[in-house]
Amino acid sequence: MQGKYRALWLNDDEFLEVIDQTKLPFEYTTKVLKTTDEVVTAIKDMTVRGAGVIGSVAAFGIYIACLKPNITYEALHVEAKKIRESRPTAVNLMWAVDKMMELLKDSNDLVNDAKKYAIELNDDEAIESQKIAKYGADIIEDIIKKKNKKSINILTHCNAGWLAVIDEGTALAPIYEARKRGIDVHVWVDETRPRNQGASLTAWELTQSGVSHTIIADNTGGHLMQAGEVDMVIVGADRVSANGDVANKIGTYLKALAANDNDVPFYVAIPASTFDFDIIDGVKDIPIELRSEDEVKYMRGVDSDGVVREVLITPKDSPAINYGFDVTPARLVTGLITNKGVCEADFDKIQEKFNKK
Ligand code: MRU
Repeated sequence: MQGKYRALWLNDDEFLEVIDQTKLPFEYTTKVLKTTDEVVTAIKDMTVRGAGVIGSVAAFGIYIACLKPNITYEALHVEAKKIRESRPTAVNLMWAVDKMMELLKDSNDLVNDAKKYAIELNDDEAIESQKIAKYGADIIEDIIKKKNKKSINILTHCNAGWLAVIDEGTALAPIYEARKRGIDVHVWVDETRPRNQGASLTAWELTQSGVSHTIIADNTGGHLMQAGEVDMVIVGADRVSANGDVANKIGTYLKALAANDNDVPFYVAIPASTFDFDIIDGVKDIPIELRSEDEVKYMRGVDSDGVVREVLITPKDSPAINYGFDVTPARLVTGLITNKGVCEADFDKIQEKFNKK
């Protein structure tokens, strides 16, 4: 398998088919989602994950819900609520469900209208991702020029590529674009414990696209920054508040602190759908997902017989806690790479750029 794909699509039977991201990088398999409950489960158990793709699946999830025989708009609200509550942090989920329900409120043909709107919503997100790619690659070029270098080392955390956002990703989109421009890019890939989205998904994506990369333990980034081995950090986000605070995969805040301490530019790449303009203080008010402790205590891998196994890596009776995200204060963010260009992580600047004034 070479190159890039879509993480989800409507298959020939007009059901939602998705890459099962829990099986990567060892197996490429897909799942077909035919009911609201299957859509909700796929989001909860992270068959699909990443803020953008969660929003995309939610939009198609409303279409899938409309397939329920004789469903009315009123009854559709019950299904929409189930989807909207499947995970708490990534605001793209709520954005997509609310947008679909708003678009469908006067519909006389729920099934076909929902399919049309879900496809349009996803095509729009794909266009935004391409814009982020261009604005981000311009920054990469600037840094190379300023540092008078021939190549660039970029650190990223979690997975914010095409597996996470239709079609190019967010944080990885500028990297793919930079490559297209012939720039020599090397990526430090944080493993991203406990679910290893970096080691399993980002490394898999970069391998598919032939991008040079090195997997590192999450605690290695600070040392590499001190050693001058990191020219830039780019991450995605699950929710950015009106004041520019950034919620992303647990561990991102620590990377921002290390980057700040070593004068390494720390960029966050996001589409407009990841802003939550109702939250003014993100550090205080962005809801943080708490997931099963087993994700910390067990690890999945492939053994010497090629069998995928899950193994316990802690004393069985030791408790663990598993916060899925943290919030990086706006003061540590060099800039937000958005579909509307680069923006300071600042209330007034964000309001201005996104016409909220
Ligand atoms: O728990 P996940 O895998 O859904 O978390 C994903 C992330 O934190 C990504 O960095 C984020 O969603 C950005 S991708 C748009």
